[in-house]
Amino acid sequence: MTDVLTPTPAHIARAAELIKQGGLVAFPTETVYGLGADATNGKAVASIFEVKGRPHFNPLIVHGASINMLECDVEFNDVARTLADTFWPGPLTMILPRREDSKLSDLVSAGLPTVAVRVPNHPVALELIAKSEVPIAAPSANASGEISPTAPHHVQSSLEDKVPLIIAGGACAVGLESTVVDITGEDIIIVRAGAITAEDIISALTSAHHDGNLPIVRYELEATDKPRSPGQLLRHYAPKKPLRLRAIDVAEGEALLAFGSTKFMGLKNGGAVTTLPDDYFKNLSETGDLFEAASHLFAYLRGLDESNATGIAVMDIPNIGIGIAINDRLKRAAEK
Ligand code: TXA
Ligand code: MG
Repeated sequence: MTDVLTPTPAHIARAAELIKQGGLVAFPTETVYGLGADATNGKAVASIFEVKGRPHFNPLIVHGASINMLECDVEFNDVARTLADTFWPGPLTMILPRREDSKLSDLVSAGLPTVAVRVPNHPVALELIAKSEVPIAAPSANASGEISPTAPHHVQSSLEDKVPLIIAGGACAVGLESTVVDITGEDIIIVRAGAITAEDIISALTSAHHDGNLPIVRYELEATDKPRSPGQLLRHYAPKKPLRLRAIDVAEGEALLAFGSTKFMGLKNGGAVTTLPDDYFKNLSETGDLFEAASHLFAYLRGLDESNATGIAVMDIPNIGIGIAINDRLKRAAEK
Protein backbone atom coordinates (compact mmCIF):
# COMPACT_ATOMS: atom_id res chain seq x y z
CA MET A 1 0.00 0.00 0.00
CA THR A 2 1.18 3.49 -0.83
CA ASP A 3 -0.13 6.51 1.07
CA VAL A 4 -0.48 9.54 -1.18
CA LEU A 5 -0.72 12.61 1.03
CA THR A 6 -1.25 16.32 0.42
CA PRO A 7 1.70 18.50 1.50
CA THR A 8 0.25 19.83 4.77
CA PRO A 9 2.69 20.56 7.64
CA ALA A 10 1.33 17.53 9.54
CA HIS A 11 1.86 15.21 6.57
CA ILE A 12 5.35 16.56 5.94
CA ALA A 13 6.15 15.99 9.63
CA ARG A 14 4.93 12.40 9.26
CA ALA A 15 7.13 11.94 6.19
CA ALA A 16 10.12 13.39 8.08
CA GLU A 17 9.53 10.88 10.89
CA LEU A 18 9.59 8.09 8.32
CA ILE A 19 12.89 9.40 6.89
CA LYS A 20 14.40 9.52 10.41
CA GLN A 21 13.37 5.91 10.96
CA GLY A 22 15.17 4.83 7.79
CA GLY A 23 12.10 4.70 5.53
CA LEU A 24 11.55 5.92 1.97
CA VAL A 25 9.47 8.94 0.94
CA ALA A 26 8.71 10.16 -2.57
CA PHE A 27 8.54 13.95 -2.64
CA PRO A 28 8.25 16.79 -5.16
CA THR A 29 11.14 19.00 -6.23
CA GLU A 30 11.14 21.71 -8.92
CA THR A 31 12.81 19.27 -11.37
CA VAL A 32 11.26 15.82 -10.92
CA TYR A 33 9.91 13.72 -8.00
CA GLY A 34 12.64 12.27 -5.81
CA LEU A 35 12.74 8.98 -3.89
CA GLY A 36 14.29 10.07 -0.60
CA ALA A 37 16.06 8.41 2.30
CA ASP A 38 18.36 9.53 5.14
CA ALA A 39 21.72 9.92 3.34
CA THR A 40 23.62 9.02 6.51
CA ASN A 41 21.81 5.69 6.95
CA GLY A 42 23.41 2.95 4.86
CA LYS A 43 20.46 0.58 5.12
CA ALA A 44 17.99 3.27 4.09
CA VAL A 45 20.19 4.24 1.12
CA ALA A 46 20.50 0.59 0.13
CA SER A 47 16.73 0.30 -0.02
CA ILE A 48 16.61 3.12 -2.61
CA PHE A 49 18.80 1.02 -4.92
CA GLU A 50 16.64 -2.02 -4.28
CA VAL A 51 13.30 -0.31 -4.91
CA LYS A 52 14.52 1.36 -8.13
CA GLY A 53 16.44 -1.67 -9.39
CA ARG A 54 19.37 0.74 -9.73
CA PRO A 55 22.91 -0.57 -10.30
CA HIS A 56 25.08 0.02 -7.22
CA PHE A 57 27.83 1.71 -9.22
CA ASN A 58 25.48 4.63 -9.97
CA PRO A 59 25.72 7.20 -7.12
CA LEU A 60 22.88 9.37 -5.79
CA ILE A 61 22.38 13.10 -5.31
CA VAL A 62 22.39 14.33 -1.69
CA HIS A 63 19.86 17.10 -1.01
CA GLY A 64 20.31 19.73 1.68
CA ALA A 65 17.92 22.38 2.99
CA SER A 66 20.77 24.92 2.75
CA ILE A 67 24.47 25.14 1.88
CA ASN A 68 25.24 24.98 5.65
CA MET A 69 23.71 21.55 5.90
CA LEU A 70 26.00 20.24 3.12
CA GLU A 71 29.22 21.96 4.24
CA CYS A 72 29.99 19.25 6.78
CA ASP A 73 29.97 16.59 4.06
CA VAL A 74 31.67 18.18 1.02
CA GLU A 75 34.36 20.81 0.34
CA PHE A 76 33.13 24.02 -1.28
CA ASN A 77 35.84 25.98 -3.11
CA ASP A 78 35.28 29.59 -4.27
CA VAL A 79 33.68 28.56 -7.54
CA ALA A 80 31.31 26.15 -5.77
CA ARG A 81 30.36 28.85 -3.30
CA THR A 82 29.57 31.33 -6.07
CA LEU A 83 27.47 28.78 -7.92
CA ALA A 84 25.63 27.85 -4.71
CA ASP A 85 24.98 31.53 -3.93
CA THR A 86 23.70 32.13 -7.45
CA PHE A 87 21.66 29.04 -8.21
CA TRP A 88 20.56 27.49 -4.87
CA PRO A 89 17.90 26.69 -4.11
CA GLY A 90 17.61 25.52 -7.70
CA PRO A 91 18.20 22.88 -10.39
CA LEU A 92 22.00 22.71 -10.15
CA THR A 93 23.83 19.68 -8.75
CA MET A 94 27.53 20.03 -7.96
CA ILE A 95 29.99 17.15 -7.76
CA LEU A 96 32.37 18.10 -4.93
CA PRO A 97 35.12 16.37 -2.95
CA ARG A 98 33.79 14.39 -0.02
CA ARG A 99 35.10 15.44 3.39
CA GLU A 100 37.06 12.91 5.43
CA ASP A 101 34.74 13.41 8.39
CA SER A 102 31.52 13.17 6.35
CA LYS A 103 28.80 11.06 7.95
CA LEU A 104 27.20 10.21 4.61
CA SER A 105 26.82 6.55 3.77
CA ASP A 106 29.52 5.36 1.33
CA LEU A 107 26.75 3.91 -0.77
CA VAL A 108 25.40 7.35 -1.78
CA SER A 109 28.58 8.07 -3.68
CA ALA A 110 29.10 4.47 -4.83
CA GLY A 111 32.55 4.50 -3.24
CA LEU A 112 33.71 7.58 -5.23
CA PRO A 113 35.77 10.27 -3.44
CA THR A 114 33.16 12.83 -4.52
CA VAL A 115 29.51 13.52 -3.69
CA ALA A 116 26.83 15.15 -5.85
CA VAL A 117 24.88 17.74 -3.83
CA ARG A 118 22.07 20.22 -4.36
CA VAL A 119 19.50 22.39 -2.57
CA PRO A 120 16.17 21.98 -4.38
CA ASN A 121 13.86 24.92 -5.02
CA HIS A 122 10.59 23.53 -3.74
CA PRO A 123 8.95 24.47 -0.43
CA VAL A 124 7.82 20.89 0.28
CA ALA A 125 11.26 19.42 -0.37
CA LEU A 126 12.95 22.08 1.77
CA GLU A 127 10.52 21.59 4.64
CA LEU A 128 10.89 17.81 4.47
CA ILE A 129 14.70 18.00 4.59
CA ALA A 130 14.67 20.59 7.38
CA LYS A 131 12.25 18.55 9.49
CA SER A 132 14.19 15.33 8.87
CA GLU A 133 17.32 17.11 10.16
CA VAL A 134 19.52 15.01 7.85
CA PRO A 135 20.57 15.40 4.22
CA ILE A 136 18.30 13.34 1.97
CA ALA A 137 19.68 11.08 -0.76
CA ALA A 138 17.21 11.10 -3.63
CA PRO A 139 17.35 9.84 -7.19
CA SER A 140 14.34 10.37 -9.44
CA ALA A 141 11.40 8.34 -8.11
CA ASN A 142 11.11 5.91 -11.02
CA ALA A 143 12.29 2.39 -11.72
CA SER A 144 15.84 2.53 -13.10
CA GLY A 145 15.87 3.24 -16.85
CA GLU A 146 12.32 4.62 -17.00
CA ILE A 147 11.22 8.19 -17.68
CA SER A 148 11.56 10.44 -14.61
CA PRO A 149 8.28 11.30 -12.82
CA THR A 150 7.01 14.87 -13.01
CA ALA A 151 3.68 14.20 -11.24
CA PRO A 152 2.71 12.02 -8.24
CA HIS A 153 0.76 9.49 -10.32
CA HIS A 154 3.91 8.84 -12.41
CA VAL A 155 5.65 7.74 -9.20
CA GLN A 156 2.81 5.41 -8.37
CA SER A 157 2.68 3.80 -11.78
CA SER A 158 6.46 3.33 -11.92
CA LEU A 159 7.15 2.09 -8.38
CA GLU A 160 3.71 0.64 -7.61
CA ASP A 161 3.53 -0.39 -3.96
CA LYS A 162 7.24 -0.29 -3.31
CA VAL A 163 7.18 3.21 -1.82
CA PRO A 164 5.19 3.59 1.41
CA LEU A 165 4.57 7.33 1.19
CA ILE A 166 4.24 9.87 -1.62
CA ILE A 167 3.89 13.56 -0.80
CA ALA A 168 1.83 14.88 -3.71
CA GLY A 169 2.85 18.41 -4.59
CA GLY A 170 1.45 18.78 -8.11
CA ALA A 171 3.39 18.89 -11.36
CA CYS A 172 7.10 19.82 -11.32
CA ALA A 173 7.76 23.32 -12.69
CA VAL A 174 11.04 22.57 -14.49
CA GLY A 175 10.22 19.01 -15.55
CA LEU A 176 13.79 17.89 -16.36
CA GLU A 177 16.41 16.60 -13.93
CA SER A 178 18.93 19.10 -12.57
CA THR A 179 22.07 20.15 -14.40
CA VAL A 180 24.97 18.11 -12.99
CA VAL A 181 28.31 19.88 -12.98
CA ASP A 182 31.69 18.46 -11.99
CA ILE A 183 33.86 21.11 -10.34
CA THR A 184 36.52 18.86 -8.87
CA GLY A 185 38.97 19.48 -11.71
CA GLU A 186 40.50 22.47 -13.52
CA ASP A 187 37.65 22.84 -16.01
CA ILE A 188 34.00 23.01 -15.04
CA ILE A 189 32.29 20.14 -16.80
CA ILE A 190 28.56 19.76 -17.27
CA VAL A 191 27.95 16.00 -17.22
CA ARG A 192 24.15 16.23 -17.40
CA ALA A 193 22.33 19.06 -19.17
CA GLY A 194 19.44 20.77 -17.39
CA ALA A 195 17.70 24.10 -16.95
CA ILE A 196 20.93 25.82 -15.90
CA THR A 197 23.18 26.12 -18.93
CA ALA A 198 26.91 26.68 -19.52
CA GLU A 199 26.08 30.31 -20.36
CA ASP A 200 24.30 30.73 -17.00
CA ILE A 201 27.33 29.34 -15.16
CA ILE A 202 29.80 31.53 -17.08
CA SER A 203 27.73 34.63 -16.42
CA ALA A 204 27.45 33.82 -12.68
CA LEU A 205 31.23 33.39 -12.42
CA THR A 206 31.87 36.54 -14.42
CA SER A 207 29.62 38.72 -12.28
CA ALA A 208 31.21 37.30 -9.11
CA HIS A 209 34.58 38.52 -10.46
CA HIS A 210 36.05 35.13 -11.12
CA ASP A 211 36.83 36.54 -14.57
CA GLY A 212 40.48 37.13 -13.66
CA ASN A 213 40.98 33.41 -14.19
CA LEU A 214 37.64 32.26 -15.50
CA PRO A 215 37.67 28.47 -15.69
CA ILE A 216 36.64 26.78 -18.92
CA VAL A 217 33.01 25.63 -18.76
CA ARG A 218 32.07 22.85 -21.16
CA TYR A 219 29.58 20.05 -21.75
CA GLU A 220 30.62 16.41 -21.69
CA LEU A 221 27.27 14.65 -21.94
CA GLU A 222 28.43 11.41 -23.53
CA ALA A 223 30.43 8.78 -21.68
CA THR A 224 34.05 8.74 -22.81
CA ASP A 225 36.67 6.03 -22.16
CA LYS A 226 36.62 7.20 -18.58
CA PRO A 227 33.06 8.39 -17.87
CA ARG A 228 32.87 11.32 -15.49
CA SER A 229 29.46 10.33 -14.26
CA PRO A 230 28.26 6.71 -14.03
CA GLY A 231 24.76 7.80 -15.07
CA GLN A 232 26.12 8.56 -18.56
CA LEU A 233 26.58 4.85 -19.18
CA LEU A 234 22.95 4.01 -18.89
CA ARG A 235 20.23 4.06 -21.46
CA HIS A 236 17.74 6.43 -19.96
CA TYR A 237 14.33 7.97 -20.29
CA ALA A 238 13.11 5.01 -22.24
CA PRO A 239 9.62 4.99 -23.74
CA LYS A 240 8.52 1.61 -25.12
CA LYS A 241 7.74 2.94 -28.59
CA PRO A 242 10.44 3.92 -31.08
CA LEU A 243 11.14 7.65 -31.37
CA ARG A 244 11.92 9.32 -34.69
CA LEU A 245 13.69 12.63 -34.11
CA ARG A 246 13.69 15.78 -36.27
CA ALA A 247 10.63 14.48 -38.09
CA ILE A 248 9.24 16.67 -40.87
CA ASP A 249 6.11 14.61 -41.35
CA VAL A 250 4.09 11.92 -39.60
CA ALA A 251 4.06 8.34 -40.92
CA GLU A 252 1.04 6.03 -40.95
CA GLY A 253 0.30 4.87 -37.40
CA GLU A 254 2.72 7.29 -35.75
CA ALA A 255 1.90 9.75 -32.97
CA LEU A 256 3.33 13.29 -33.06
CA LEU A 257 5.24 15.14 -30.35
CA ALA A 258 5.12 18.66 -31.73
CA PHE A 259 7.01 21.83 -30.87
CA GLY A 260 5.79 25.23 -32.03
CA SER A 261 3.58 25.69 -35.06
CA THR A 262 2.44 22.56 -36.91
CA LYS A 263 1.32 24.58 -39.92
CA PHE A 264 3.96 23.06 -42.19
CA MET A 265 3.74 19.58 -40.71
CA GLY A 266 1.70 17.01 -42.61
CA LEU A 267 0.93 13.31 -42.74
CA LYS A 268 3.21 11.27 -45.02
CA ASN A 269 0.30 9.97 -47.07
CA GLY A 270 -1.38 13.35 -47.29
CA GLY A 271 -3.63 15.21 -44.89
CA ALA A 272 -3.15 17.49 -41.93
CA VAL A 273 -1.92 16.66 -38.43
CA THR A 274 -5.19 18.08 -37.11
CA THR A 275 -6.80 14.82 -38.24
CA LEU A 276 -4.65 12.78 -35.81
CA PRO A 277 -6.64 11.28 -32.91
CA ASP A 278 -6.31 13.29 -29.68
CA ASP A 279 -4.15 10.69 -27.96
CA TYR A 280 -1.76 10.72 -30.97
CA PHE A 281 -0.94 14.42 -30.74
CA LYS A 282 0.79 16.52 -28.09
CA ASN A 283 2.39 19.94 -28.54
CA LEU A 284 5.23 20.67 -26.09
CA SER A 285 4.70 24.40 -26.63
CA GLU A 286 2.53 25.97 -29.30
CA THR A 287 4.39 29.26 -28.92
CA GLY A 288 7.81 27.60 -29.17
CA ASP A 289 8.74 28.32 -25.53
CA LEU A 290 11.58 25.96 -24.54
CA PHE A 291 10.90 26.18 -20.78
CA GLU A 292 7.25 25.27 -21.32
CA ALA A 293 8.40 22.41 -23.56
CA ALA A 294 10.78 21.09 -20.88
CA SER A 295 8.03 21.09 -18.26
CA HIS A 296 5.76 18.97 -20.51
CA LEU A 297 8.36 16.64 -22.05
CA PHE A 298 8.23 13.61 -19.74
CA ALA A 299 4.46 13.68 -19.16
CA TYR A 300 3.75 13.94 -22.91
CA LEU A 301 6.23 11.16 -23.75
CA ARG A 302 4.45 8.94 -21.23
CA GLY A 303 1.06 9.90 -22.66
CA LEU A 304 2.00 9.15 -26.30
CA ASP A 305 3.72 5.95 -25.21
CA GLU A 306 0.39 4.74 -23.79
CA SER A 307 -1.49 5.36 -27.06
CA ASN A 308 -1.95 2.68 -29.72
CA ALA A 309 0.51 4.43 -32.05
CA THR A 310 3.34 2.36 -33.54
CA GLY A 311 5.97 5.04 -32.89
CA ILE A 312 6.46 8.68 -31.96
CA ALA A 313 7.61 11.33 -34.46
CA VAL A 314 9.26 14.28 -32.71
CA MET A 315 9.61 17.70 -34.34
CA ASP A 316 12.96 19.50 -34.32
CA ILE A 317 13.76 21.39 -31.12
CA PRO A 318 16.33 24.22 -31.17
CA ASN A 319 19.54 23.16 -29.46
CA ILE A 320 19.95 26.29 -27.34
CA GLY A 321 19.51 26.99 -23.62
CA ILE A 322 17.35 24.33 -21.96
CA GLY A 323 16.79 22.92 -25.49
CA ILE A 324 20.21 21.24 -25.07
CA ALA A 325 18.80 19.26 -22.11
CA ILE A 326 15.56 18.45 -23.98
CA ASN A 327 17.51 17.14 -26.98
CA ASP A 328 19.82 15.14 -24.72
CA ARG A 329 16.83 13.35 -23.12
CA LEU A 330 15.19 12.77 -26.52
CA LYS A 331 18.38 11.33 -27.96
CA ARG A 332 18.68 8.87 -25.07
CA ALA A 333 15.01 8.00 -25.37
CA ALA A 334 15.47 7.28 -29.10
CA GLU A 335 18.42 4.93 -28.52
CA LYS A 336 17.67 1.25 -29.01
O1 TXA B 1 16.76 16.83 -10.57
C1 TXA B 1 17.39 15.95 -10.02
O2 TXA B 1 18.64 15.95 -9.96
C2 TXA B 1 16.60 14.79 -9.36
C3 TXA B 1 15.85 15.37 -8.15
C4 TXA B 1 15.14 14.30 -7.37
O3 TXA B 1 16.74 16.11 -7.36
N1 TXA B 1 17.46 13.70 -9.02
C5 TXA B 1 18.05 12.92 -9.95
O4 TXA B 1 18.84 11.90 -9.44
O5 TXA B 1 17.90 13.07 -11.14
P1 TXA B 1 19.38 10.66 -10.29
O6 TXA B 1 19.93 9.72 -9.28
O7 TXA B 1 18.30 10.15 -11.16
O8 TXA B 1 20.57 11.24 -11.11
C6 TXA B 1 21.82 11.55 -10.50
C7 TXA B 1 22.90 11.65 -11.55
C8 TXA B 1 23.28 10.30 -12.11
O9 TXA B 1 23.51 10.44 -13.50
C9 TXA B 1 24.56 9.95 -11.36
O10 TXA B 1 25.41 9.10 -12.10
C10 TXA B 1 25.19 11.33 -11.16
O11 TXA B 1 24.08 12.19 -10.93
N2 TXA B 1 26.05 11.37 -9.97
C11 TXA B 1 25.71 11.29 -8.68
N3 TXA B 1 26.79 11.35 -7.87
C12 TXA B 1 27.87 11.47 -8.67
C13 TXA B 1 29.29 11.58 -8.44
N4 TXA B 1 29.80 11.57 -7.22
N5 TXA B 1 30.09 11.69 -9.53
C14 TXA B 1 29.58 11.70 -10.77
N6 TXA B 1 28.25 11.60 -11.07
C15 TXA B 1 27.40 11.49 -10.02
MG1 MG C 1 17.05 9.23 -12.68
